[in-house]
Amino acid sequence: MNAQQPVSRQKFLDVLIGVGLAAWAAAFVAPVLTYVWPSQRRGPGTQTASAGKVNEFVEWQTKVVAVGSHPVIVVRTPQGFRAYSAICTHLGCIVGWDVVRHQIACPCHAGYFDINGRPVAGPPPRPLAEYGIAVVKGEVLVKST
Ligand code: FES
Repeated sequence: MNAQQPVSRQKFLDVLIGVGLAAWAAAFVAPVLTYVWPSQRRGPGTQTASAGKVNEFVEWQTKVVAVGSHPVIVVRTPQGFRAYSAICTHLGCIVGWDVVRHQIACPCHAGYFDINGRPVAGPPPRPLAEYGIAVVKGEVLVKST
């Protein structure tokens, strides 16, 4: 058998069509798989980040930390630490802390959230997602739930 046999035009077209059909099928299957099995369920169940040492916070001091790829606002209240998603539930701006109102404030459209993450003024339609807090050996840990 000759190893140097030329590829026939028919065989070349068969391979070309096969590769094209495989790419076309993958283009349809990939979005369906992403929808059925979203990345939140594929990734690690819980993500944790340090917000620093407890003694780095005075009462009503806040800090924005990244938990995975999500910004989270951490607040030290007189009752302890609270943590919420820093992504506004209106149009997704990053929220901050209003030192006068003692509320979480969105700079984009004057949305405000109380210390429980509930919207109290402006257009935000839903509360901010809450994150878990644990203090371990003096370190404030923020974790997704
Ligand atoms: S994006 Fe926050 S109030 Fe509009």
